[in-house]
Amino acid sequence: MGCFITLEGPDGSGKTTQIQALYHDLVVEGYPVLLVREPGGTDIGDQIRTILHDVKNVEMLANAEVLLYSASRAQLVGQVMRPALEAGKVVLCDRYAESTMAYQGYGHDLDQELLKAITAFATGGLRPDLIIYLDIDVEESLRRKEQAFRQGTCEWNRMDQKELAFHRRVRSGYLQLMAKEPERWFVLDAAQSIESLQTSIRKRMKRLLAEKHIRRTA
Ligand code: TYD
Repeated sequence: MGCFITLEGPDGSGKTTQIQALYHDLVVEGYPVLLVREPGGTDIGDQIRTILHDVKNVEMLANAEVLLYSASRAQLVGQVMRPALEAGKVVLCDRYAESTMAYQGYGHDLDQELLKAITAFATGGLRPDLIIYLDIDVEESLRRKEQAFRQGTCEWNRMDQKELAFHRRVRSGYLQLMAKEPERWFVLDAAQSIESLQTSIRKRMKRLLAEKHIRRTA
């Protein structure tokens, strides 16, 4: 069995930059590694992503939203992630089940136990070995996201249009989730420089890969 790492954080926390840098590092060091993102990561998942992110779909109900994210996840886990883990790979995933708990659970105030059951059904119980979390103040995260959008470096999706209070509940949700199981989370302050975040993540990853006996193949 390989090693499964996810990156989580509010929108605009810089997750995607960090996960791409980590992926690049691991490839250069010769580890067998796979990078995927949610929602999406498969042909079917990418079609679901289009529905989820379409800004026209303002009438989408919260329960439908949960099931669409979960359907995308079920396809990704079964078709791509589980086979890669079984082949001994390091799987990096940009967002995973903790996003559902934070955005749909805390953001939309849906029942946590129900979400856990839906997630367990979608994933067959697959949970990350480590969740890397980039923490950022909500106002700052939205400022960054708007700036990136103006510069054309990110899309503006349906979730981004949610009100400030929704994003506040999401961040507070993440903090509550990690307080319940602190050993599963590696928390970083996203206000640091990109390089300093990269250094901390690299160091933590080295330790995890050694613990999981992941070997370089190249
Ligand atoms: P994406 O464009 O991938 O943004 P980011 O770079 O912030 O990850 O958009 C993913 C959006 O979907 C983001 O706003 C979080 C949301 N989301 C959920 O609400 N629930 C989920 O289960 C997942 C995976 C994502």
